[in-house]
Amino acid sequence: MANADTTCKHLLSIEELKKKELMSYVFSADSFVEISERNLKKVPALRGKTVINLFLEPSTRTRVSFEIAGKRLSADTINISGSGSSVSKGESLLDMARTLEAMKPDVVVIRHQSSGAAHYLANELTETSLVNAGDGMHEHPTQALLDLLTLYRYYVNQQEDGARIGSEVLEGKKIAIVGDVRHSRVARSNIWAHLHLGNEVRLVAPSTLLPKEFEQPSAFGGKVKLYHDLRAGLEGVDIIMILRMQLERQESFFVPSLEEYTRLYCVSNSIINECAPIAVVLHPGPVNRGVEISRDVIDSPRSLINEQVKHGVAVRMAVLFHLATGGISSEAANTTEEQKAA
Ligand code: CP
Repeated sequence: MANADTTCKHLLSIEELKKKELMSYVFSADSFVEISERNLKKVPALRGKTVINLFLEPSTRTRVSFEIAGKRLSADTINISGSGSSVSKGESLLDMARTLEAMKPDVVVIRHQSSGAAHYLANELTETSLVNAGDGMHEHPTQALLDLLTLYRYYVNQQEDGARIGSEVLEGKKIAIVGDVRHSRVARSNIWAHLHLGNEVRLVAPSTLLPKEFEQPSAFGGKVKLYHDLRAGLEGVDIIMILRMQLERQESFFVPSLEEYTRLYCVSNSIINECAPIAVVLHPGPVNRGVEISRDVIDSPRSLINEQVKHGVAVRMAVLFHLATGGISSEAANTTEEQKAA
């Protein structure tokens, strides 16, 4: 969607990243996790830098974790929502973005209800780095990065020596993405991420909730497979990503009733034990307990949902650091306030 030279200055989509760039974000984020475990959770890496979080759609995890990430890196962070901004007086997105750019932020993080909003601004603004924090039904790149970081750390910890290794720990996997794929930017970013890794991607949903672009079996090197039956789709997979039914994006109802959807597609521990006993479970949140995922899965050892939230901070630290500094080694970012003063 964007021209190629926007990829270094901005993070707009996973589709336009190369595998190497994708994994460099994951490895960099892996080194940022430890900062949030410290007693003093702050490093001076982005002192003097300004990050604006422009959230024109509701968010808890993404908005809070970008704010925490900026603060832990010592950046000045400013949060703007739709209702508290001049958007509510009719100002256009572009005029607002140009106004913000005139105040010289280093990075603007934007969530917007329109697919393509982040790319549109990236082509119009000249100085500011942009992060797409979710644009309509298009992409949510930092969500896919935190999902990959969660899987990376899980599989590394499964190894006897726990040694950090390369992207191979994430390769050769089968992932099933279950639920409202059609309306999900999380699904699109994760599909691209796993295609970059060469993994098999299964989309499991009623036909009305599967996006048209994945319907051709020959597309995407045959790596994307569609299933309408939950058990068949889960058979033998390593990773199950469960999606929320996004009623706020559905102009008409895409399933006869939520009860029927739940009866056919709610993922429970008994189904996972039967079809994919070694699988781990991801969910981007917010979760509708008992609708798309049963309570016993959320609270089971196979659930990595809390790890996803935790890793969201590290991923957003890595992304802000990379864009605000031009990608200096994360070693520099790990210098503590005390080390710097010594
Ligand atoms: N996963 C996610 O984007 O959650 P929020 O909408 O709460 O940010």
